[in-house]
Amino acid sequence: MATLFKNIKELIQVREASIAFVSGKDMNVLPTIKGAFLVVEDGLITDFGTMENCPSNDFYEVIDATGKMILPAWCDSHTHMVYAGNREGEFVDRIKGLSYEEIAKNGGGILNSAKKLQETSESDLYDQSKARLEEVMRLGTGAVEIKSGYGLTLESELKMLRVIKCLQENYPIEIKATFLGAHAVPETYKNDKSGYLSLLIDKVLPKVAKENLAQYIDVFCETGYFTVTDTERILKAGKKYGLTPKIHVNQFTAIGGVQAGVKFNALSVDHLEIMRDKDINALKNTATMPVALPSCSYFLSIPYAPARQMIDAGLPLALATDYNPGSAPSGNMNFVVSTACIKMKMTPEEAINAATINGAYAMGLENKLGSITKGKQANLILTKPINSYGFIPYAFGDNQIESVFIKGKEII
Ligand code: NIG
Ligand code: FE
Repeated sequence: MATLFKNIKELIQVREASIAFVSGKDMNVLPTIKGAFLVVEDGLITDFGTMENCPSNDFYEVIDATGKMILPAWCDSHTHMVYAGNREGEFVDRIKGLSYEEIAKNGGGILNSAKKLQETSESDLYDQSKARLEEVMRLGTGAVEIKSGYGLTLESELKMLRVIKCLQENYPIEIKATFLGAHAVPETYKNDKSGYLSLLIDKVLPKVAKENLAQYIDVFCETGYFTVTDTERILKAGKKYGLTPKIHVNQFTAIGGVQAGVKFNALSVDHLEIMRDKDINALKNTATMPVALPSCSYFLSIPYAPARQMIDAGLPLALATDYNPGSAPSGNMNFVVSTACIKMKMTPEEAINAATINGAYAMGLENKLGSITKGKQANLILTKPINSYGFIPYAFGDNQIESVFIKGKEII
């Protein structure tokens, strides 16, 4: 039986035909229907339109949305939300003047999280992670990508990916898993990075593939972590197992990671705080989605990705949280959308497109999620009564969510 939402003040991100993503000037176009109805059946969007055409059949449930808006649930295409413990100590060190790089050099950073994770049991890790997943679902996230990369040993990388797989099995939202073994060189391989890469390629990857634990492959391509050559080595190995790249590039330095991503047909290149003209140009007319992570810039006080330059150059852009214990301990997509408007000068239309349809594309989910389109999953945000959708990013310290529906079922 179907559910009818009626008297919707504005139905946001309506796309009659499914589209892959929006780019350039089109990012500033957010199609909506004012005074709308929406029908959901068996978890899918089956009909919508203006209230004059609202069907009058018997519905299992009728929800009156007078004064409220409906939009697709957020699509968060970049997170590390499976992790053990937190790093408030490093947070205080940074307040006192140490940089992210200095903390990492002193054994903090990713290696600190890896140590904690290696000492945490799979079931404890699952419990910590599911609490974060439930939290972001309540904040309106309806699809999420989660990376490994805090294991850095065969056992612990597999432990992380198995936790992600359990989350995939136990929760109704779409979850994509990414293998990020090349996140940092572990202490035991401090003087043998190539040996660590061999371990990942010869021992870990085959297991990941055999147990079908990941859909994507990632590398932290950054000065002091992995070079472009290292990155290409891993991406090549991943390709053999059918893993598509989604990579960390240009966070602190621009060393050619964007070009490596494009060369290997990456689905996305993420971070992009430091972009040269040639990096922007390399992304033109490609199928690689640039992904910006404004919460990371906010938390680390580093530059924001130059969204205006990228969009004005005709590129698409997606927004994601980067939810992780070191550089963005928040999975709040509402904050991401606000911060993109406030700090990156994106319009509300651009930010909502970036956090829905473009985010869905960056997870290979553009045919299932990210817009109000017949046949797509009914992962929806029902707002509180608001005057205009611009109020969503404007009211930055809060969220305007009254309820969240996943596959048509209300979860809050
Ligand atoms: O995306 N930059 C690399 N990885 C994470 C942060 C990792 C950490 O500090 O724990 C990021 O920002
Ligand atoms: Fe990240």
